[in-house]
Amino acid sequence: MSYPADIQQDKYEGKIARGQFFTRGRSWLKGQVLSFIKKSGCRIAYDPFAGAGDLIHCSDEYGIADIAGLDIDPSLKWRLNDSLVSIPHIDNSIIITNPPYLSSYSASRKKLMPAVRKYFENTCYDDIYLVALDRILAAQEYSVAIIPETFLNSGYRQMRRLDSITILEENPFNDTDVPVCVACFDGRTKPLSEISVYKNNDYFSDLGHVFGMRPVPCGDVPVRFNVLSGWLALRGVDTTNPAEKIRFGLKEDFSYDWEKGIKNTSRLLTVIQIDVKKEQQKNFIDECNKILEDLRTKTGDIILSPFKGNMKNGKRRRRLDYKAARAIMEQAWHKIYGGNDCTVQGYCFCVKAEKQTKLFCKHIRI
Ligand SMILES: C[S@@+](CC[C@H](N)C(=O)[O-])C[C@H]1O[C@@H](n2cnc3c(N)ncnc32)[C@H](O)[C@@H]1O
Repeated sequence: MSYPADIQQDKYEGKIARGQFFTRGRSWLKGQVLSFIKKSGCRIAYDPFAGAGDLIHCSDEYGIADIAGLDIDPSLKWRLNDSLVSIPHIDNSIIITNPPYLSSYSASRKKLMPAVRKYFENTCYDDIYLVALDRILAAQEYSVAIIPETFLNSGYRQMRRLDSITILEENPFNDTDVPVCVACFDGRTKPLSEISVYKNNDYFSDLGHVFGMRPVPCGDVPVRFNVLSGWLALRGVDTTNPAEKIRFGLKEDFSYDWEKGIKNTSRLLTVIQIDVKKEQQKNFIDECNKILEDLRTKTGDIILSPFKGNMKNGKRRRRLDYKAARAIMEQAWHKIYGGNDCTVQGYCFCVKAEKQTKLFCKHIRI
C-alpha cells in the first residue's frame, strides 16, 4: 500500500486504523451470552480479529477446548488474514470477537482513509464494524460480537439473524469508553419479536417492542432548533452527574452564554422555538420532562442513543436526538392544547411491517 508522503506508515498500521482496542476481563460474558455459546454446541472458539486473544484464550469457560485466531497484524503471531475482506469458514466453530470500529467520518477526519477506503467501497455501511459483521455472518452460523451500542440504530440489514442483544454498561476496555453491546447471532432469520434484548444481566424486552417504543414525531407542531430567539432550552445529553440529566427548561434556567455557545454546542445544549403562550410555558416544560422521564423508565433508556462514558452512578450517559425531542414536544403540546390522537396516545408500531408509522393502519399495535 502506498501512503501520502506527509503521513507515517505507522499511522496506517497502528492502533487507530486497525481498531486495536483489546477486550479485558469477562464483564461482557453475561449469563445469557454464556448460555448462547454453550447451546451452539460448537467445539472451536474462533476470533478472526484476534488481537491479544483474550476472547478465545478463556474458551474453557465456555466448555470449548480448541481455539482459532486470525489477525492482520503480523506482530500478534496469529495466522494472517484480512478478515474485512473475507473470513474462512471453520467447521464446528463459533466466532467470538470484538471487530475493529472505525466510521468513514472518523477515517476521513483523522486522515486514515487511504488505509481503509477499500473496505468502504462496496458497502452501504459507514463503519467497518458493520462490514466485519457481514464477513462474520457469511463465514459462520453462530457468532458473538462486542460492537458499539449504536448498532441498535444502525439499520444493519441482517439484524433479524440475531438471537439476542445485551447492552453492557460496564466498560470492557482499558483504553476506550465506546458504549458497547454484545450481539449473539444464530444465523436464522426471524421476526424482531423473537430477538431478546438484555440490559447487563437482565432481560428487558424483545427487539420489535424496543423499536416500537421509539417516539416518532408527526410534524404537526412547528418546532425550530438552534434559534437564538427561542424561549425553550434543552440539555440534550446526560452529564456525568446523575442529578443533571437530559432536561427541558426555560432558557434563563441554564447558566449559559447562549450568544456565544449555540453554534459550538448545538447537540449538548440548544434553544428551541415552539409556539406556547407565556403563561403555559412552565406547564409545557413540566409535561416534556414528565414524558421524557416516563419514556426513560419504560424503555430502560435503551431507545436513547448512548453517549460516551457513564454517569458517576455507573449508568450509561444518553443523548436525546432532535427527532425524539420533537416527538416529546409534540406530545406535550397536544396534552396542553388538545388535538391529534396519534401523538397524544404515543407512537404507533405496525406489527406487519415491523416499523413505526405516523398514521394508524389496520395492523397497528400501540
Ligand atoms: C478491537 S481489536 C479486538 C481484538 C480482540 N478481538 C479483543 O477483543 O481483544 C481488533 C483487532 O482486529 C485486528 N484487525 C484490524 N483490521 C483487521 C483486518 N482487516 N483483518 C483482520 N484483523 C484486523 C486488529 O489488529 C486488532 O487486533
